[in-house]
Amino acid sequence: MTGPAFPQDLKQKAEAFRSAGLRRLFADDPGRFDALSFGFEDLLLDLSKMHWDRETIAGLAAFARERGMEDRRAAMFSGEAINETEARAVLHVALRNRGDAPVLVDGRDVMPGVRETLARMEAFANGIRDGSILSAAGRPFTDVVNIGIGGSDLGPAMVTAALAPFADGPRLHYVSNVDGAHIADTLKGLDPRSTLVIVASKTFTTIETMTNARTARQWIVKALGESAVGAHFAAVSTALDKVGAFGIDPARVFGFWDWVGGRYSVWSAIGLPVMIAIGPEGFAQFLEGAHALDRHFLEAEATENLPVLLGLAGIWHRNFCGFPARAILPYDQRLARLPAYLQQLDMESNGKRVTLSGEPVDCATGPLVWGEPGTNGQHAFYQLLHQGTDVIPCEFIVAASGHEPELAHHHALLVANCLAQSEALMNGRTREEAEALLAGEGKSAAEIARLAPHKVFPGNRPSLTIVHDRLTPRALGRLIALYEHRVFVEGAIWNINSFDQWGVELGKVLANELLPMLDGREPAEGRDSSTLGLLDRLRSR
Ligand code: F6P
Repeated sequence: MTGPAFPQDLKQKAEAFRSAGLRRLFADDPGRFDALSFGFEDLLLDLSKMHWDRETIAGLAAFARERGMEDRRAAMFSGEAINETEARAVLHVALRNRGDAPVLVDGRDVMPGVRETLARMEAFANGIRDGSILSAAGRPFTDVVNIGIGGSDLGPAMVTAALAPFADGPRLHYVSNVDGAHIADTLKGLDPRSTLVIVASKTFTTIETMTNARTARQWIVKALGESAVGAHFAAVSTALDKVGAFGIDPARVFGFWDWVGGRYSVWSAIGLPVMIAIGPEGFAQFLEGAHALDRHFLEAEATENLPVLLGLAGIWHRNFCGFPARAILPYDQRLARLPAYLQQLDMESNGKRVTLSGEPVDCATGPLVWGEPGTNGQHAFYQLLHQGTDVIPCEFIVAASGHEPELAHHHALLVANCLAQSEALMNGRTREEAEALLAGEGKSAAEIARLAPHKVFPGNRPSLTIVHDRLTPRALGRLIALYEHRVFVEGAIWNINSFDQWGVELGKVLANELLPMLDGREPAEGRDSSTLGLLDRLRSR
């Protein structure tokens, strides 16, 4: 099976809806919101400001079925090795499986191991939180530094920030970049006598993480001596042999499994810093939210199934409308890192150019994913969203209430801005409206003619909006699982492997080759003239 042949009738529908325009679609159908908004628990997915209708959705759902999406979903949940290039199962759903049912990989139930690791994490997190686990200096830990990168950083860092109102443990800090500035700035404000370091790396070979971990080790040793390392370090990895070589006490090493992809690992021991920040009970609620969404993904009819619908929305925009990107716009400051998190989840998963059988795909796959929280983005890049030459579908995320009841007027402004943006993108402002506006400001006819083109918003730009009651651990778990399964649905339709990431390897190999040329251990030769010129410039200064 190569890339999909997209149904012609649906392609024609995309054109027809786009030329009719969203304004008219709403004017013609007062029931449009009710027909095209979907719910699960307190989660609402409004897909009405898109160029489609329920019939289109049914057609797309049938297409997804023909493409084998449902079979692939069943294969994932039953532990088949659907990550074919690495011969691995894909079972992040087992990490949040709160039921009693076994989950088999190669005939063995993985759930006892999952539960045992969770219990060990809980005991450790509780000990750090209640001060029964002390530092080498006999102090309770006030600060925890997580050292990791990519999936070993973005998930826990994003979730920690998102759940700040629930944090009642030590302060959390995240170091990811190999740029020494990152660890230097982080450690500068900390006291080694009360700082715990967690080294998080699935492979325990990632050069950025290992370099930062060694620097942190030196920082502890310099202040407290070699014997303090055991008390001040913990590790999370699938490569337990390599962790041992680093000198971390096995009692403080938390494992996970090769069937958990890095970008899907926040539910595993990679979530340990989150558990330390919000406590095991809050972490359990986070897992439960994701598990509830997993059940919904498995059980709900495709045309009522939120992750399927979100995946179909992505396919619609990418392959039927030809849009190159999507913007993730959380109207929630605590979700500031969500766009970066979803960027890895989506672009590392679906940024693929060959099918499962290794043939070139014959359609566009994963779009560019980017974003910033509203309302800040409005004052930065929304100009292009409204009046630029590309159409970029926007995905708004907003909660009905915030965590600061005393600042409810802030929240009302935030929500009003969110709704205003999707309305403006959809309705735009016509030439006549722009002229009337300028006339109302008392402008002359000549001024009106000169300025009106600049004040026209084409509108007819699609968006979708995700609403939940409040950003709780459960709501966040649900939201992340929603996006994970959306990426799955899209990847299944495109017939690509969403669970490998060979595209990150080449740069790593070349960096290892260039390092000795940069520090003078090897002569700078055998590269192109640009690389040699830049090497020379950087070495000489
Ligand atoms: O280079 C990409 C990547 O492999 C990601 O997929 C992963 O999340 C990240 O690096 C970190 O890897 P590790 O957890 O093995 O250090």
